[in-house]
This record gives sequence, structure tokens and C-alpha cells, in this order.
Amino acid sequence: GDVAVLVPAAGAGVRLGPGAPKALRPLAGEPLLVHAVRRIAAAPSVHTIVVAAPAADVEAVRGMLASVAPVTVVAGGAERQASVAAALAAVPVGPEIVLVHDAARALTPPELVESVAEAVRAGHDAVIPVLPVVDTIKEVDAGELVLGTVDRSALRAVQTPQGFRRSVLAAAHVAASDPLTDDAGLVEKQGVSVVCVPGSEYALKVTRPFDLALAEHLLTTGA
Ligand code: CTP
Ligand code: MG
Repeated sequence: GDVAVLVPAAGAGVRLGPGAPKALRPLAGEPLLVHAVRRIAAAPSVHTIVVAAPAADVEAVRGMLASVAPVTVVAGGAERQASVAAALAAVPVGPEIVLVHDAARALTPPELVESVAEAVRAGHDAVIPVLPVVDTIKEVDAGELVLGTVDRSALRAVQTPQGFRRSVLAAAHVAASDPLTDDAGLVEKQGVSVVCVPGSEYALKVTRPFDLALAEHLLTTGA
């Protein structure tokens, strides 16, 4: 494999409601992070996996992943971007393709990891998996008054794993100022072209309780 996958898993999971950090919460009896890492490790291109865990849970995360896949576990930061930067700093010399993948997208198929990696290998500096936007989208003002209807055909919902030539991601993180919620956003600010590939419905991000229920259902039906 020529690919390193960084797994930011240090978030609190505020939108999921009170409880353990989101990546450590159970989905069908196993932590979300375990589901995510198992699927990443099943992708043949993957050489290295680095997890950014909540600082208080680094040892616990090492333990829960020991039997799943060989992983390096580092402490994450206060923002997702800091967690990704900490994981990136722990990638050994070797992999020239780096993917960044949310632990919260626990059911992402190994095939999506492969297709993103393959697009980087084929020569793209930055690759994101996307889905079409299905809802009509309105722009509103602070008082919830509709300002207008956005042209949905030009919009995409963005998932992870996002894939990068290693040097491109590293340079974007060095140059980063305000924290963003995805890595492609940093790369865009550097003027690098970002290309889209088809995403997967199974790569949904577990964000709210409804998503966890949906993920449970998908697992019982073979995800
Ligand atoms: N993440 C991280 N470090 C942070 C914040 C987020 O590693 N300081 C990770 C999360 O663990 C998650 C991914 O980034 O796997 C996507 O973030 P999100 O879905 O927002 O997760 P949380 O920040 O945990 O959730 P919330 O925003 O509801 O608190
Ligand atoms: Mg968050």
C-alpha cells in the first residue's frame, strides 16, 4: 500500500447528545471508531492508519483497536483541524497519498477508500467523495426570511475520505489559519484544484441520534 489514512476521532459528539466522545460510542455493540478502522484496513491500498483520539482516551483507543488493525494513536486537538494536523505529524516516511477520514463515517465501504486513493494516484492533488443534494436549498436571513432559492444542480454534499498528495495536504496545514470542517477547504485556499468522485450513502456521518439509528439498521442489513 502507498496510502496513509488519518482518522480524526477526537470530537465530543455534542449533537449526538450527552455521553462518551462520539467515536467511542457503541454501534451494534462496538465503538463507531472500531467499525470505521475495520473498513479502512480492509482497503488493499492502505499502508498506515493514524487515529487522533480524545486526549484522555489515547490508551483506551490503542487497546480497543489492537485486535482490529495495526494503528498509531495520537492525542487530537480542540478543533478537527488540529486533530488532523496531529495525525499527519505522526505519518512515517513512505506513503505519498494521504486520506483524511472521519471516525463518525463508520460504515464507509473499503471500495470508497480505494476509489479516492486511485483518483489521487491517477494524478489529482486533491479528491473528495460527493453526493448530489436532494433537498431544495433556500438561502435565509437571520430572521428565517427566505432570500432566495439556490441552484441545487451546482451543489454537492461532501463526505470523507478526502484524498491528497501528501505534500499538498502538508503545505495546506502549515498555511492554515481559521479552522475549517474539512481538509479540502484548506487545500482550496492554497489554490489547488479539488476534484469530485462519486460518494456512497453508506459513508453518512453519524451526527445526530437519527443517524445512529440509521447506521444500526444498515448494519443489520449487511453494511
Ligand atoms: N473531530 C476530531 N477532533 C475535534 C473535533 C472533531 O478529531 N476536535 C473528529 C470527530 O471525532 C469526527 C470528525 O472529526 O470523527 C467529524 O466531526 P463531527 O462529526 O463534528 O464530530 P464531533 O465534533 O465529535 O461532533 P459534534 O460537532 O456534534 O460535537
Ligand atoms: Mg464537530
